[in-house]
Amino acid sequence: MVQLNPHFKELKREYIFPIIEEKLMTLQASSLVPIVNLGIGDVALPLAKTVAEAIAKSADEMTSFEGMHGYGPSEGYLFLREAIAKVSYPLNLISPSEIFISEGINQDCTQLIELFDLSVKIGIPSPTYPAYLDNALLAGRKEHIHLIPCLEENGFIPQIPDIHLDVIYLCTPSNPAGVAMNRDALTAWVEYAKKEKAILLIDHAYEAFISSSDIPRSIYDIPGAKEVAIEMRSFSKAAGFTGLRCAYSVIPCELMDGKIHALWKKRQSIKSNGVSYITQRAAESALSPQGLLETRAQIQHYLSQAKILMSGLDQLNLTYFGGVNAPYIWVKVPSGKTSWEFFDTLLNSCHILSIPGSGFGAHGEGFIRLSTFTTQANLAVERLCLLK
Ligand SMILES: Cc1ncc(COP(=O)(O)O)c(C=O)c1O
Repeated sequence: MVQLNPHFKELKREYIFPIIEEKLMTLQASSLVPIVNLGIGDVALPLAKTVAEAIAKSADEMTSFEGMHGYGPSEGYLFLREAIAKVSYPLNLISPSEIFISEGINQDCTQLIELFDLSVKIGIPSPTYPAYLDNALLAGRKEHIHLIPCLEENGFIPQIPDIHLDVIYLCTPSNPAGVAMNRDALTAWVEYAKKEKAILLIDHAYEAFISSSDIPRSIYDIPGAKEVAIEMRSFSKAAGFTGLRCAYSVIPCELMDGKIHALWKKRQSIKSNGVSYITQRAAESALSPQGLLETRAQIQHYLSQAKILMSGLDQLNLTYFGGVNAPYIWVKVPSGKTSWEFFDTLLNSCHILSIPGSGFGAHGEGFIRLSTFTTQANLAVERLCLLK
């Protein structure tokens, strides 16, 4: 008999989506009021025109012998890596050769861990994007995982641990709490990593939403970070690519004297046949002046939805975090209720779909996440006011 991966049984976190689905179906069987979906963190606006035009143009190009593109380079086409280096990392901060294109941060953040020995101690914030923990458990690393609690008293910012860790995930601006680490917090982590000879895996999926001037736009703005940090960014939320799939990781040559860069290059050449030419041309167009204008307008829309939602929460005197540098608002549930109970109140009394904080790890209990990827914030506020 074939032995299955025994580590699947370590996935003990409550899998919330089937439960949410069932609750939705029960409600919809008895009520015709449409739901305002502030649950799933998928984009709500259509694709930017410039991006759609780049897709059409490159698809047309592929119909000629000269313009046909088959398998591309596993690290991504140079035209896209150059555009990223120029637009996202001005002043030659990062060279195109340090950028690796992929289909998503989801795949990079789970696969980068393959570069490290099974004995490395992995730090994972809690609550956080669930893929880091689930992936480490599935890889049989349970005994080497250290959760870093992100608590209300610290504004949900991960604090420096008093133990040694080798590889640490940091998500900033964060999902689910929607808060961003400032220069001091990032500097403290870079110094910790230098002292411990550790590596930081920075998930920067929401970088495009940073609007406060005291929040660095890249870990590499912190002196010395190139020696200790990998930064992952994505076009998913920055440019509406959740369905197109394009992201990148920056692996600086200074990191472990180039060893990590060499290993990732080798790993990509074995396990990846690259991202499609059409998608990479689309991503390149999102970085053009017109593409940036259109996609930044989308980000501003989501941030304006956040403002409207926060005004509703203010009217209810609810405590919340996030919503300024991220498309998520992390709402403290009224005292005496659990995440699921407040989720039920919002669903049944306001017809608003949220995500219970416990779905992001045990330290998320007592909160719910509202996504601002919506066009219906005003309607949501009207409905929230029913709770007054
Ligand atoms: C923190 C975080 N990282 C990564 C991802 C996945 O990004 P991608 O679409 O690039 O795989 C998400 C998606 O919601 C996310 O919230």
